[in-house]
Amino acid sequence: MEIIVSAPGKLMLMGEHAVVYGYPSIVTAIDQRLKLRARVLEKKVFELYAPDVEIINYSKSILAVGKCEVPKGAKFVELALVNFLNKYPVKEGVRIETVSAFKAMFGFGSSSAIVACTIKALCVLFGVKLSNKELFNLAYQTVLDVQGVGSGFDIAAAIYGGTLYYVYPGKIIRPINTKALGIVVGYSGVKADTAIIVKRVAEESKSFPIVYKSIYAEIGQLIPLARKALVSGKVKEIGQLMNINQGYLESLGVGTSKLSQMIYACREAGAWGAKISGAGGGDCMFSVCSDKDRLNVEQAIKKAGGEVIKVGIGAEGVRLEND
Ligand code: MEV
Repeated sequence: MEIIVSAPGKLMLMGEHAVVYGYPSIVTAIDQRLKLRARVLEKKVFELYAPDVEIINYSKSILAVGKCEVPKGAKFVELALVNFLNKYPVKEGVRIETVSAFKAMFGFGSSSAIVACTIKALCVLFGVKLSNKELFNLAYQTVLDVQGVGSGFDIAAAIYGGTLYYVYPGKIIRPINTKALGIVVGYSGVKADTAIIVKRVAEESKSFPIVYKSIYAEIGQLIPLARKALVSGKVKEIGQLMNINQGYLESLGVGTSKLSQMIYACREAGAWGAKISGAGGGDCMFSVCSDKDRLNVEQAIKKAGGEVIKVGIGAEGVRLEND
């Protein structure tokens, strides 16, 4: 039996960085999906074909997974398999192939989506029934095994889908019933490394811990207000809260001049609000605006040197494609 599973990418709407320190955040799943194909092999081997991360014809004994040097491109899938096998040992082997991937450089959470897909695929192939929270726990453990840091909000988006109120480390994962929200996403052209930025902010905070703590707490205060505004469709309030959040992100030193140019360009083109999405240092920003202003906002991003990326929000979480 061959199966195909898919999982969405994510866009952090509000609360980045503070979420790592226990404050709530809001994340949404986007309609760009990563897909993988998987099948059981009679031989006890693990095969991986993921050309987008330069893994071609990768094969090893199931008994050797997670051992020896694992190539960078194979790490998320292989360690997801290790975590799955530790809990649910199997007698056969497995072949996994990526069918489609979104560009890792946008910061849409391709690693989380691939881990969510891998664990979901293994569950389907080997008849293991897991709740979303159990899937989340296995997937989050895998991300921590590979990269050491991360609040897990991206894993939650990949598994649960929709728009979520998220508290680290999966303490609260609750859907937000959002009214329609017009967003425009812009890519800065610079790939950011989340783990490095999170560690750098943590390091810098040691000079003035009280100041950083209060910035995180201030960001945390915005989230329930943003949740309320999302539910009631108060788009101008959402924009205002995003702008305040952006100010705090600037104070953490994660902005770049390019992102700021794009953000200000959106606001000047009529957007209600604009901010970085994610760790900062590059990747994407997004703005919220009316349908009437959308074209102007898109043009403003391009004029500021950014690339407009069309995404829809609130997409479905990880799913089997060939039921
Ligand atoms: C990165 O997209 C968001 C951060 O809050 C890190 C995390 O939550 O894992 C900076």
